[in-house]
Amino acid sequence: MTEKDIDTVLSIEKRVFKHPWSREYFHLIVSDMHNYMLTLRTGADIIGYGGYHLLRNRTSFLSTRHQYDSMIHLINIAIVPQKQHSGFGTFLMNTLINKARANTAEYCYLEVRPSNDRAFSFYRKRGFSIIGVIENYYPQECENALVMGMELGPS
Ligand SMILES: CC(C)(COP(=O)(O)OP(=O)(O)OC[C@H]1O[C@@H](n2cnc3c(N)ncnc32)[C@H](O)[C@@H]1OP(=O)(O)O)[C@@H](O)C(=O)NCCC(=O)NCCS
Repeated sequence: MTEKDIDTVLSIEKRVFKHPWSREYFHLIVSDMHNYMLTLRTGADIIGYGGYHLLRNRTSFLSTRHQYDSMIHLINIAIVPQKQHSGFGTFLMNTLINKARANTAEYCYLEVRPSNDRAFSFYRKRGFSIIGVIENYYPQECENALVMGMELGPS
């Protein structure tokens, strides 16, 4: 994802999320050298996007025994509504995970709304499990976030 993709990404963001992120926030995300953001295209059309933030410090989660020297925080993943449920999200997620493994990341975590059944089911089928809850993470609806994580293992 580059600056010139942000208009299209924003138009998808507004269609798939009730509280879309702002243009300014996407500019920040794209300009952070620790972020790896991708757009997924069919031909010239952007049909999805997603990415992660690479963390290189010793971190552990209460629910896991290990300390990780390197892990990723999945920032976002979205597929344009008319292309959902056709395997594109899985392809994008696999691409991100493979890149993270190549960056020697050992663990991936993310936040998801408990009310987002499709995303929760998507992550669970990709091997993520619940490792925690952050209370009132989405203040507009007073909704908690489920934190889901997965060991990345070798490529
Ligand atoms: C979550 C998302 C990225 C998944 O992408 P996708 O391209 O639809 O996913 P896939 O086609 O690869 O489907 C994989 C799994 O996702 C789940 N899923 C995706 N769409 C679904 C739907 N319409 N109904 C039920 N389950 C669905 C299923 O578990 C599915 O597995 P299955 O094919 O065995 O049923 C996509 O639904 C999306 O963009 N949602 C809106 C944005 C969002 O909520 N992002 C996550 C923020 S935390």
